[in-house]
Amino acid sequence: MYIVMIASECAPVSKVGSLADVIYGLSRELEKQGNLVDIILPKYDCMCYDQIWELEIAYQDLWVPWDKRIIHSTVWFGFVHGRKCFFIDPHSDDNFFNRKRYYGCTDDAMRFAFFSKASLEFLLQANKQPDIIHCHDWQTGLLPVLRYEMYNTMSSRICYTIHNFRYQGITGTDILSATHLDRFEYFHHSDRLGDNVHPNVLNLVKGGIVYSNFVTTVSPKHAWEVRHTELGHGLGDTLHIHHDKFSGILNGLDYEIWNPEIDTLIPHHYNIETLENKYANKDVLRERLLLRKDFKPIIAYVGRLDDQKGVHLIRHAVFYALHNGAQFVLLASNTNDEFLHLKHELNDNEDCHLEIGFNEKLAHLIYAGADMIITPSMYEPCGMAQMIALRYGTVPIVRGIGGLADTIFDRDFSDKPFNARNGYIFHEADYIGIESAMQRALGLWVNYPEHFRKLIIQGMQYNYSWHHSGQDYLDIYKHITQVL
Ligand code: GLC
Repeated sequence: MYIVMIASECAPVSKVGSLADVIYGLSRELEKQGNLVDIILPKYDCMCYDQIWELEIAYQDLWVPWDKRIIHSTVWFGFVHGRKCFFIDPHSDDNFFNRKRYYGCTDDAMRFAFFSKASLEFLLQANKQPDIIHCHDWQTGLLPVLRYEMYNTMSSRICYTIHNFRYQGITGTDILSATHLDRFEYFHHSDRLGDNVHPNVLNLVKGGIVYSNFVTTVSPKHAWEVRHTELGHGLGDTLHIHHDKFSGILNGLDYEIWNPEIDTLIPHHYNIETLENKYANKDVLRERLLLRKDFKPIIAYVGRLDDQKGVHLIRHAVFYALHNGAQFVLLASNTNDEFLHLKHELNDNEDCHLEIGFNEKLAHLIYAGADMIITPSMYEPCGMAQMIALRYGTVPIVRGIGGLADTIFDRDFSDKPFNARNGYIFHEADYIGIESAMQRALGLWVNYPEHFRKLIIQGMQYNYSWHHSGQDYLDIYKHITQVL
């Protein structure tokens, strides 16, 4: 099959979150399974150009009708660690992708509506005829709409994946005239792009759901949650209507990057047979972060600090760990006032280190050197940290929601067989909830080290590679190319 991925991020060239890892990992897997895959991305000024090989102009003059004019654009081509990527580069005063940042501009909806339209124009003008267009998140929500309402000479089928329902591309109706979807009332109708909560605005994700041939989110549990709970952020009804073309597919993990046997960013390699080397990494981690050497487990958090990730529970976990004989390490790519204050408060504590900033090498060392990791998210469509932790023999303590519930099975209460359990789960997003799970994990570590070791090994044996997910997506692609 010939598949074109269209997204606003791809690792490692333009990465803000795990969406980027999914675009790269899924594309590689689909190629491995014998398919042809192209990726279309915006050509941002702030991308990591040193991650692109042989960047050259692929299509000099792409003319994109936009508003009352035509925007002259150029399409570039280059390899990103083996993946074939096209980059859309518009030349206009709007400077859509030359903002020194990926997101966070007041005209984001316009920027990515342009990207969606330009991608389709490119496929058309360059005479590319993919069997499948797979697009992602709110940034490309308008693409399925445009494909069926305007580019209907194309035969490509569309799969649309929603990684985060909180961001739906809520925007004004000026997008319609800019993209030439001129029948204002028709498109604004609640059967199409009209938002379910605020009827006067458009919802691009809703448009993507209505118009795609198939819609997915990134875990089966989350697919249920967005239909049946407030986690659908107003789109539950739309998903009900379209439930026969909606499902959840768990993301995979790239074990070429996340594998303690070959990871070049950690000092001591290990696997199930050489688990003692994990503790050599623990020593290095302590030295690196100036933590004291003591008979204590290290509990870690790696990720963003925002409401989705449960900041109040992360903060609580720091103190709970310190008061209950553990050390705590945090690596967050962003921060807030509360954590800056906390960092200051705990500055001299030899059992704790809070590091703010993006640091890939340290992230790998933490996964390798810590004993447990916490992920107390308020919602988590899939989540990567828990899957990485498993492979590194770091026991996950997670909230039982979304992808976390699909990948982690509680040592004491899961209905999985005893030898298939791999971590700790709590349900309520409150202090008692997270304490109950941390207490059980700490108790096992201190009192039953052999059992703790067994739990580590069971976790390391889990395989959440892309292989399986890739096949699931291919089944969907096949299905939608066959039905009328
Ligand atoms: C979003 C979700 C996260 C998921 C990722 C990739 O960032 O919040 O749970 O793992 O997308 O699908």
